[in-house]
Amino acid sequence: MKFIAYVSQAIAPFDAEELQHLLERSRARNTADGITGLLIYRYNDEYGRGNFLQFLEGPETRIEEVWERIANDDRHHSVIVVEEGRSEKRMFSDWSMGFRNVEEFDLRDFPGFADMGSDAFWRRAENNALPEALDLLRSFCD
Ligand SMILES: Cc1cc2nc3c(=O)[nH]c(=O)nc-3n(C[C@H](O)[C@H](O)[C@H](O)COP(=O)(O)O)c2cc1C
Repeated sequence: MKFIAYVSQAIAPFDAEELQHLLERSRARNTADGITGLLIYRYNDEYGRGNFLQFLEGPETRIEEVWERIANDDRHHSVIVVEEGRSEKRMFSDWSMGFRNVEEFDLRDFPGFADMGSDAFWRRAENNALPEALDLLRSFCD
């Protein structure tokens, strides 16, 4: 199995309806493709930005196909891979795509993500300096 974690910035902040629409479509496709994972959305009001952190896991070819679609989706930009690899066991086996619309306090234990969406955060993302991504994702496992 392959996994991939990335961050991205919404072209414009997503409202509840847009998030719901995205999740419905994603969950239907992921169920069919044997993909599981977690999507985290963080609206940073200081910068007026919507930001994503997503984890996807599943059969290698399916991950490559969904990645192609996601990377080319024009609802977001600055799509940056932060972790990628192979694993025997799924981290989110029960979730066709779990979702958390996170608040500041959800991120306080992860200094690299505490300011998710700020200019400094995006500079770190571009410099491959978001090593806590998997720890943060793991904290939402249960
Ligand atoms: C932040 C974000 C996360 C997404 N996550 C998924 C996902 O988990 N699975 C998926 O199939 N599509 C996901 N998509 C949507 C794809 O980019 C694409 O729109 C969708 O797979 C439908 O493709 P289709 O219309 O060609 O069938 C995501 C898009 C965005 C912007």
